[in-house]
Amino acid sequence: MGKLVSISTRDNVVILEIDNPPVNALSRQLIEELSRQVDAFLDMPDALGLVIHGAGRTFVAGGDIADFERPDFSPKRLNDTLLRLEGSLRPVVALVHGTVLGGGLELAMACHHRIAATGTRFGMPEINLGLIPGSHGTQRLPRLVGLGPAADMIATGKMIGVEQGQSLGLIDAVSGKDDLLSAGVAAVKKLAGAEPRRTSALNVAATGADDLSSLEAKVAASPGQPAYDAALKSMIAARDMGFADGIGVEAELFADLVKSPASRALRYQFFAERTAMKIPGLGDVSPRAVETVGVLGIGTMGAGIALAAALAGFPVTLVEVDQAALDRGMNRVQDTIGGMVKRGRLGEAEAAACRARMTGAVGLEALGKVDLVIEAVFEDMQLKCDIAASLGNTCKPGAIIATNTSTLDVDVIAGKTGRAGDVVGTHFFSPAHIMKLLEVVRGDKTAPDVLKAILAFARKIGKTVVVSGVCYGFIGNRMAEVYMRESERMQLEGATPGDIDNVAEDPGTWGMAMGPSRMLDMAGVDVGARTVIEWIKSGEGPQDPSYRILCREMFAADLHGQKTGQGYYRYEGRKALPNPATHDLARDLAGKYGVDRRDALSREEILERLLFPMVNEAARILEEGIAYRGADIDVVWTNGYGFPRWRGGPLFMADEIGLQKVVDRMDYYARETGNAWGYWDVSPLLRRLASEGGRLSDWENGNGNEGTP
Ligand code: COA
Repeated sequence: MGKLVSISTRDNVVILEIDNPPVNALSRQLIEELSRQVDAFLDMPDALGLVIHGAGRTFVAGGDIADFERPDFSPKRLNDTLLRLEGSLRPVVALVHGTVLGGGLELAMACHHRIAATGTRFGMPEINLGLIPGSHGTQRLPRLVGLGPAADMIATGKMIGVEQGQSLGLIDAVSGKDDLLSAGVAAVKKLAGAEPRRTSALNVAATGADDLSSLEAKVAASPGQPAYDAALKSMIAARDMGFADGIGVEAELFADLVKSPASRALRYQFFAERTAMKIPGLGDVSPRAVETVGVLGIGTMGAGIALAAALAGFPVTLVEVDQAALDRGMNRVQDTIGGMVKRGRLGEAEAAACRARMTGAVGLEALGKVDLVIEAVFEDMQLKCDIAASLGNTCKPGAIIATNTSTLDVDVIAGKTGRAGDVVGTHFFSPAHIMKLLEVVRGDKTAPDVLKAILAFARKIGKTVVVSGVCYGFIGNRMAEVYMRESERMQLEGATPGDIDNVAEDPGTWGMAMGPSRMLDMAGVDVGARTVIEWIKSGEGPQDPSYRILCREMFAADLHGQKTGQGYYRYEGRKALPNPATHDLARDLAGKYGVDRRDALSREEILERLLFPMVNEAARILEEGIAYRGADIDVVWTNGYGFPRWRGGPLFMADEIGLQKVVDRMDYYARETGNAWGYWDVSPLLRRLASEGGRLSDWENGNGNEGTP
């Protein structure tokens, strides 16, 4: 490995360059070299001063997150270096570009003067990792920008741009990227001889009486996430203490956070999301080129997909079967764009450019020239197969045909095109221009360059991607099915939707964005029930007559959720109230299907019966080779189903609870509730990992493990 930190001189100014691709993360080795080179500069009495800059696409984007897992991790070495750097009697100037994040910003703030290239962005993203800045950032940032803005940056992790950075006092000057070095050298010459302006010596400016109020509210709303409380305490220390004491408070808080379960889970998520993109065997494959996109079927889903592609800069052809449907679809897209502009999420000029990239057309022939067609017609197997056959003829050779589906068999649809290698499944989540997750479904015959192309496309449109093999419901909905099954079964036994949702949503126990009943009421009980009914009818689904009978009967009784004002809950406006009609229905169904009723189910039982069967299903998904890794499954749930990131995902959460406990409780419920339909059969993989002390979230297929999608 070459040098990570090197120094040279120009006009008697020392230039320190950090070069650790791709993002100049401060690894242990880099910190050692940085420390040595800072000392080398301090030992050069004739040098006028120092400039620090980063090679490549960015200045330092933070500490090396992988290093936080080392048992002996400590920021002390870096922090001591920053103190020596700031203590220099000669000027030290930071030249920053790209994304100046976390430890990168902390390094820049320890310098005496900061010059940013145009377009640079600054942030303290540690909160996204369940941490606070640990290299004096909580104490230097408020001294530069004031207490309120510092608290906001630290508590939200949001980035700010050059303009805001300059108006807040975070940076002192702006320069073109190519002129940064000369600007830095000139600044050192100008500042030489004067007493350096040290951030640590500045006073913290209070910017308002409610500087910390939003952070206080966040603390109250976030049990289980100690980083918010630590952020608040460190801001109070910055306000009330001198720098030396303040950094002592920060150091103690940071050391505790690094070991906290929430931070470990969030760090795991950071790498899991990036690893999910890496598909074994695709390393050397060149993706097919995708420059133009067509979307067929402009309903809610198709409109969202078209918009996501157009917003990312792709020319998109939107196609419907007749003019009336096309008009409705185009209006839907226009309305969504209008709404985004109104809410300030999109500028007028961007909106106009996005509109200009979209062309409406009637008839499949309009798709003959595009590189990627995404078919998003109604979820009906016959219809999808008919369309697949037509697309197989219409699309140009080599064009990719993506079929968007949440449950259907992609291999069957691919077979109808007569060119199955060109076909891949996509499972977008609604609204598709907003939801982060995209499940990509790799069919039996999907060509590697097609898979690689769709992954690259997904990344360009800002999606977090997980690849799934073909099975009913793929990764996410297959597990959701089990989760909903238990939720409904517990309602037959006497729990109310509110009892169940409260356990799922309570951050003290779990922290789902929405419990199962609230989620289905929003998505539409009719939609969920129809899918279940079709699945059972196809012969593939469970033949247990009581299987999800509550949802099926609610569908028959027009209790369709929010859209009909009644579902699991009764709605007054947006307010969800208990719905006696559904409670009565659950009681009647319990009588009809011989389910014993109880007055209440304990919170512990509700949690275990929602989570453990779902984890068991995930283990089967791994055994069957539907997912490549346990971590991929967690990414699906945190990005598509409102599973709290700070719990890592269902598998990480189960690993933390202990897999042996999961297995023991599955066995217990098999005995207690009966197991006529095998719902409590424990997956062999889960049982084995539990007995070996392994973790599901670490599990990878391939490399000798069973199964590959
Ligand atoms: N530590 C270790 N690795 C890091 C890293 C960090 N702080 N930041 C990025 N990386 C790695 C990623 O894992 C990825 O590795 P891979 O290519 O092997 O998958 C690579 O750098 C590129 O990152 P990626 O996120 O894919 O690139 P991007 O251009 O979309 O985004 C950043 C770049 C810097 C904005 C983004 O990576 C980021 O937000 N990083 C975290 C910054 C952070 O939290 N810093 C504070 C740490 S306390």
